[in-house]
Amino acid sequence: MNRRNALLTGASRGIGPYIARSLAADGYDLVLASRSGPELETLARELEASGARAVVAVVDLTDDAAIETLVQTAERELGPIDVLVNNAGGDPQREFDAMTWSQNAAIVRLNLIAPLQLSHRLLPGMLRRGRGHIVNISAIAGRVGFPYLEAYAAAKDGLIGFTRVLRQDYRARGVSASVVILGAIRDAGQGQRTSDEMGTKMPKAATSPAADVATAVVRAIAADRAEAVVMPGPGRIILALLELFPSLGATLNRISGANRTMARVIAHRRQTSG
Ligand SMILES: NC(=O)c1ccc[n+]([C@@H]2O[C@H](COP(=O)([O-])OP(=O)(O)OC[C@H]3O[C@@H](n4cnc5c(N)ncnc54)[C@H](OP(=O)(O)O)[C@@H]3O)[C@@H](O)[C@H]2O)c1
Repeated sequence: MNRRNALLTGASRGIGPYIARSLAADGYDLVLASRSGPELETLARELEASGARAVVAVVDLTDDAAIETLVQTAERELGPIDVLVNNAGGDPQREFDAMTWSQNAAIVRLNLIAPLQLSHRLLPGMLRRGRGHIVNISAIAGRVGFPYLEAYAAAKDGLIGFTRVLRQDYRARGVSASVVILGAIRDAGQGQRTSDEMGTKMPKAATSPAADVATAVVRAIAADRAEAVVMPGPGRIILALLELFPSLGATLNRISGANRTMARVIAHRRQTSG
């Protein structure tokens, strides 16, 4: 099999390892990036045992200079990158006004600027070779208006717009882009961790397993999908309805209990993070 090279951010925990395993099974050698070396090494050994090559890159994506080092390491160790998956992301789950400006800016930096910067850095090589695919992991949180996620919502919605334009501009030259928009994810990731920490259950009917995200990423690349939505039920229709009726999100938050749950989470974060 002709193996290709992928750079995956956020590979150390949560949904990232699921995406890594699916990409490896689909014929990709991988650069695994995040700040946690030991977790990345463990995953790399697992992937190598399954026949893929895996290179570890310990990097803080909020550091401009580190992104350049990441790309140089990736290309030196593995060769030209065919696929970039911008998966690293998250939110500290605190109130917008209770966080300093630099804490809010760091959320945008991780969830939006780093994916743009990595795409900008890898794009010229992809265009020279006439092939490449960039997958951005976004969230439906911005559309629903999920509570307490102002900066995160702005970043994740920004990622959707970025992907749309990138795809239009470069597809004819062989470089495409897809955005995978996630609802609540169970089994792994920030939502599941918060739920475990708060001693609550993630309802199966309202969540999707982390493995579904991995499948959506691999399909988005193989079928060159513009957008995929990972949530139970008719995700794209729900997304369209939220665009048509912007206040529907507030109603959904109220009746689903999201407002109550997030108010508890915020109170808990206030106590634990001072
Ligand atoms: N879980 C959900 O329900 C859900 C819903 C919607 C969207 N999403 C999106 O899905 C993606 C994955 O989320 P997840 O739930 O798997 O999150 P997670 O479990 O918190 O994992 C986040 C990943 O990003 C890495 N990361 C965080 N800050 C970083 C930094 N400054 N530099 C480099 N790497 C960094 C983390 O590694 P280190 O800590 O080792 O650096 C980790 O590998 C994110 O983009 C998230 O916004 C998740």
